[in-house]
Amino acid sequence: MKPLTGMVRQASAANMAAMGSYQSRSVSLTAANIPMARYGGRHTVTMMPGDGIGPEMMSYVKEVYKHAGAPVDFELVTLDPNTDNYDDLYNAIASVKRNGCGIKGNIETQMNRPDIKSRNVEMRNELDLYVNRIHCQSQSGIKTRHDDIDVVIMRQNTEGEYAMLEHESVGGVVESLKIITEESTERLCRYSFEWARANGRKKVTLVHKANIMKITDGMFMQVAKRVSQDYPELEHDNMIIDNCCMQLVSNPWQFDVMILTNLYGTIVTNLICGLIGGPGVISGANVGPRYAVFEPATRNTGNSLAGMNKANPCAMLNASADLLDHLNLDYHAKLIRDAVHTTVNVDKIHTEDLHGQATSIDVVQNVLNHIKAATK
Ligand code: NAI
Repeated sequence: MKPLTGMVRQASAANMAAMGSYQSRSVSLTAANIPMARYGGRHTVTMMPGDGIGPEMMSYVKEVYKHAGAPVDFELVTLDPNTDNYDDLYNAIASVKRNGCGIKGNIETQMNRPDIKSRNVEMRNELDLYVNRIHCQSQSGIKTRHDDIDVVIMRQNTEGEYAMLEHESVGGVVESLKIITEESTERLCRYSFEWARANGRKKVTLVHKANIMKITDGMFMQVAKRVSQDYPELEHDNMIIDNCCMQLVSNPWQFDVMILTNLYGTIVTNLICGLIGGPGVISGANVGPRYAVFEPATRNTGNSLAGMNKANPCAMLNASADLLDHLNLDYHAKLIRDAVHTTVNVDKIHTEDLHGQATSIDVVQNVLNHIKAATK
């Protein structure tokens, strides 16, 4: 494989951030085995690059789709996290509603502006993407403390601690509301048990803090217990979040499918992603009754890496494969997922986060080479 580092030196940070900045040098578009396009067989998908490394990651997705022959057209929607009118956000939401699905980088949320809502959270709420499903699986080519982790996280994605209902009751006293509804918990649990059954999993663990939040987490736990009765072949247990974090780092193999509230879900997601290789590897699916949005599992903006050709593109490329699965484009999804898998685990082309020396573009180029080899 020929590294493309020269190209990176030429590219300014602004260019790197610009959509479509990636130009493959050595891969020609001769893909005889790619299924032929059919009349009416193209999909339009919303592409929301987000901030930080998002735009460059999207340029890689576009390049990889082009070489994989994925019959997908992107509707590019940019979001501006600094405005206090939400026209950009509602434009993006309308686009996903129109197209049915999207792919997304993370949108920065200013911590010191309580008046501005998180666009990430607002979008998930508006699209009713009530579950964030993340399959955390060890990669044989990435050296970590633990091998063979295989855990599926089902995170509540639209309520709980992310209600964004905070206020100062009297000076010096602030409150934040955690909202748990029986209805949303029930559908999250049902989705999780159904998914576990359909995918041959053995156990579903609900994670809570019902010893302290007796009413909110208490209900979360009770609903899961009730739903579990309909799935007698699946083992069901529950665990307090603190103990769960300790168990995850000492014995992660005891977990199979996990159901968590919104906040516990993001913490545990980051913890497990850390165990298996960090923020650049695994993707996550935001799923609801009508729409789906795909993104890297840990949802970082990676601002400090933007435009440096250092970020690991695999999480976003895996998200792009998930999107193709969602569109029932199985051939293209497998083509991309296999190429990423081989790059990480067989060729071991690793960026710095995985203690390698490859650039983002080296990784993408290697993925493209595999796609080319598989389709010629
Ligand atoms: P960050 O974006 O700074 O990333 C954390 C670490 O991971 C950094 O060291 C970064 O360099 C590294 N990293 C991230 N992506 C990488 C990649 N592809 N390859 C290699 N290394 C990578 O994360 P931070 O500081 O937690 O959050 C930044 C912003 O993202 C904040 O505005 C926050 O609000 C937002 N955020 C939103 C989340 C959500 O669920 N909506 C979740 C996490 C962060």
